[in-house]
Amino acid sequence: MPPGRFVGARGPGCHGGLRALAGHREGWWMDGVKVLGVETSCDETACAVVEDGRHLLGNVVASQAKLHQRFGGVVPEIASRRHLEMLLPVLDQALAEAGVSLRDIEAVAVTPGPGLIGALLVGLAAAKALAWALDVPLVPVHHLEAHVYAAFLDYPHLEPPLLALVVSGGHTDFLWMPSHGCMELKGRSLDDAAGEAFDKVGRLLGLPYPGGPHVEALARDGQPTIPFPRAWLEGTLDFSFSGLKTAVAVYLRRHQEAYRAADVAASFQAAVAEVLAGKAARACSTLGATRLVLAGGVAANAAVRESVRSRCEEAGVELYVPRPALCTDNAAMVAAAGYFAWREGRRAGLDLNASPGLTLEAVGPG
Ligand code: KG4
Ligand code: ZN
Repeated sequence: MPPGRFVGARGPGCHGGLRALAGHREGWWMDGVKVLGVETSCDETACAVVEDGRHLLGNVVASQAKLHQRFGGVVPEIASRRHLEMLLPVLDQALAEAGVSLRDIEAVAVTPGPGLIGALLVGLAAAKALAWALDVPLVPVHHLEAHVYAAFLDYPHLEPPLLALVVSGGHTDFLWMPSHGCMELKGRSLDDAAGEAFDKVGRLLGLPYPGGPHVEALARDGQPTIPFPRAWLEGTLDFSFSGLKTAVAVYLRRHQEAYRAADVAASFQAAVAEVLAGKAARACSTLGATRLVLAGGVAANAAVRESVRSRCEEAGVELYVPRPALCTDNAAMVAAAGYFAWREGRRAGLDLNASPGLTLEAVGPG
């Protein structure tokens, strides 16, 4: 096999839908296949065991957030070293929680990207070693694809076609998923991702890293009274959050100490939530989607969840949002996506490399 190539039972492109559907009818997803997921793309060391892509058996996440807090962001070298220390204990704990041994694992799913190169390499090396030692397939899963599949764990009857809005620290993307094994980028942030904006505003307000959950906590005591701008980018499914972040910075500078931080947090959060919800409703109408999956770290935010829920209800769109612990980075979502990719015949060789800017097409679902 040439280096870096993935082999699948089908060629590139989105032609796996009918087979997947037929497989589903034949009950392929009820045959007790246990997939081990490994996730180390940023600052969470995570392993999980998922059965048939829908049933979560064991899920362990060791967050490094505290380690990076004094630097105000993730330090790549520190992240890689901590992944090395934590991966095997996390693996043992996930297997114990699932009540299975390595001999029960039928495939190992891993994220080769996008993410931090050193961090990705640690998970990838472990996943390759496990796949080789167990003599089971190694299945590459794109990080964004994994975020979407978190929803399949909490909604066991969910099926494509669906539209996904993945809102994380690195992405704010609309992904159209007509069938398993197929995802098409329909819109994205042209500058900062929504999570990045949360983190930058958190820093401006003197909150610890990562800013998102702290901004949300602070916003609970505030009122959304400050009219921060909303970038609608009319006629597109794209986003922009850098103007909003700058508006917050300008507001804080102008008002020096004479502002209520809780009101700033609530007003910023309301602006993000309104744009995400409004554009999600518009995207569903433009693309004729009747199901929306909201995923990624920012989907853990209660105000964002509520705004999107309310707009989906008005628009008659079914909304699927994973529980908050499955919105932020975890390996259960990797194992879930890995199962469906494995079923579609996606495999990687032991020469699989990490790729910080990996595209969906390079892995298979694009
Ligand atoms: O998906 P994720 O865990 O990692 C990436 O793939 O980036 O997302 C992390 C992002 C961070 O920017 C973090 O601040 C944000 O998600 N986040 C939140 C919340 N929890 C995590 N943003 C707003 N409210 C939250 N509760
Ligand atoms: Zn993520």
